[in-house]
Amino acid sequence: MCGIVGYLGPLNPKDVIVSGLKKLEYRGYDSAGVAILHQGSVKRVRAEGKLKNLESKLTAESFDGHLGIGHTRWATHGVPSERNAHPHQVGGISLVHNGIIENYLEIKEALLKRGAKITSDTDSELVAHLVAEQVEVQRDLLKAVQVVLKELRGAFSILVIWDQQPDRLVAFKDGPPLVIGLGQDQVFVVSDVQAALNYTKKFMYLEDREIALVKGGAVQVYSSGGVEIRKPVVELNWNADLVEKKGYSHFMLKEIYEQPQAVSSAIAPHLDPETQAVRLRNVGFAGAPVQELENLDSKEDWQDTLATFNGIARVSIVACGTSFYAGLVAKYLIETLAQIPVEVDIASEFRYRKPVLLKDTLVITVSQSGETADTLAAIRLAKEKGLKTLSICNVRNSSIDREAHGHLYMNSGPEVGVASTKAFVSTLAIFNLVAVAMGEAKGALSKQTATEHVQALLAVPSQMEVVLAYDKYFADAADSLKKFKGFLYMGRGVSYPIALEGALKLKELAYLHAEGYAAGEMKHGPLALIDENMAIVMVVPSDELFEKTVSNLEEAKARGGKIISIGTGDNTRLKGISERYLSMPKAHWSTNPLLEVVPLQLMAFHLASSLGHDVDQPRNLAKSVTVE
Ligand code: G6P
Repeated sequence: MCGIVGYLGPLNPKDVIVSGLKKLEYRGYDSAGVAILHQGSVKRVRAEGKLKNLESKLTAESFDGHLGIGHTRWATHGVPSERNAHPHQVGGISLVHNGIIENYLEIKEALLKRGAKITSDTDSELVAHLVAEQVEVQRDLLKAVQVVLKELRGAFSILVIWDQQPDRLVAFKDGPPLVIGLGQDQVFVVSDVQAALNYTKKFMYLEDREIALVKGGAVQVYSSGGVEIRKPVVELNWNADLVEKKGYSHFMLKEIYEQPQAVSSAIAPHLDPETQAVRLRNVGFAGAPVQELENLDSKEDWQDTLATFNGIARVSIVACGTSFYAGLVAKYLIETLAQIPVEVDIASEFRYRKPVLLKDTLVITVSQSGETADTLAAIRLAKEKGLKTLSICNVRNSSIDREAHGHLYMNSGPEVGVASTKAFVSTLAIFNLVAVAMGEAKGALSKQTATEHVQALLAVPSQMEVVLAYDKYFADAADSLKKFKGFLYMGRGVSYPIALEGALKLKELAYLHAEGYAAGEMKHGPLALIDENMAIVMVVPSDELFEKTVSNLEEAKARGGKIISIGTGDNTRLKGISERYLSMPKAHWSTNPLLEVVPLQLMAFHLASSLGHDVDQPRNLAKSVTVE
């Protein structure tokens, strides 16, 4: 986590860095700081808390130099405070860090023995000490970093400047991302392309243990052994104004409203324009690097994808958070349509539970950011075991995307709200297509059923427009919903993961106690929780499980629970039992989850807003979790 920005060029570094940090605040907001060249030395300004605190401190500051670094922090070592805020300065060295230095205790002990004065509780400051010691010996920043990198273990991305070499900036990483934006006579080094999109669309992605020397308007990249590396430059088609709020009060609300478009953009590339049959486009299983996917022959690539799907006997889906819940929905889709057994794991469990990974397993990772540390580790583990991997990411060229054999994209556009929304529905849409494609590859699905699924999916964007009306509904209902002491979300079958996702949204945004449960499990525990202070949010579409779920609902009602139910159409039975009834358009069982999740997102959004919480930046969380 943590966001870092470095700039070397003719513009005012303060403006460039602050505008970049604003785009990266989703990565952490415990403190922020900058270090910028001014009158031959480097001036540092830091502030505890959100970026706006730093901004107010900076209004009175000016800088005459053209080099600077900035940081927005998600605390790992050391409490959130100005003392622990980055940049860290030791001698003429200023340094920002994202990640964790695992051998920091050993480094600290050695530094203390050598008489270093350590002024913060962070692991990051220790690296600044190491570089400061080395520049005294090497008299060169790049050479100093080459020596220091050998001493560091952990997951880190680091930017460093030295006041004795004010024409350069050195960047290096092992783990969390660092991207170098290339402009006209100017260079940006950022944790995420969003921070530099206002200035350039050309980027270079640093790989682990590479070191970039930015000098003048040029960039040279070296391996840790000092060998110069030629890096490809990728031109992105994301537009800077996609990262603006566009009149919405919050990014999250804007992103909820973008969901119909997100679903269309996710499916459009993968449907045959004439027949509308599923033809997953340029997945790249034959081994093309991500930058080359667009140049593949789509027909050949589709044959490779079908052959890969045909050759697998099981699927293992690995992800975290909301992406994990998308994986749970996929289990129902793939097992039903393709008759392939699917296991779904939380990435942090998968990697440490010594999974039995049989050769004919396809491992699918889901990650909006493409940078989640545990998911990245999981895909590496799968590759080590010789398995084929397929990634579903939103951010192209992200670490997970680059590691996978096959690639599918959510195509949701930048998602800024910390709580994931549109990436979730895009992933569900993609999994629908994957399930149909696997079903066809395995001969488990008739043409007619495949068409039925595609038609259902194509109807989703307009059906979603209808359910967005619950925005107004929850804006009004939020106040009266705040009174409940807890929320129990329940569903069955493909709607069960939606109950889990609904509860997660309420926890992360409104800080209210919420639990997701399989409705059929209610009598094995949660029923004891139910009284008139407990809200029951029941997802009950008119599918084959309807009668069973309604029975569960009656059981909850009999214990005094206050029912909010989500069902299909004008369901008088549900209306009769429920305190509040939310009606969904009639959809296919496989697409119901895409609609059901929308009112649950809106409910969490409005409850959190009415409680006065910062919906886009919930406390203690960060969007891109690049530490274990
Ligand atoms: C964080 C975010 C969640 C997200 C999860 C996984 O916890 O706050 O919204 O679902 O990470 O992120 P990923 O980028 O891997 O999908």
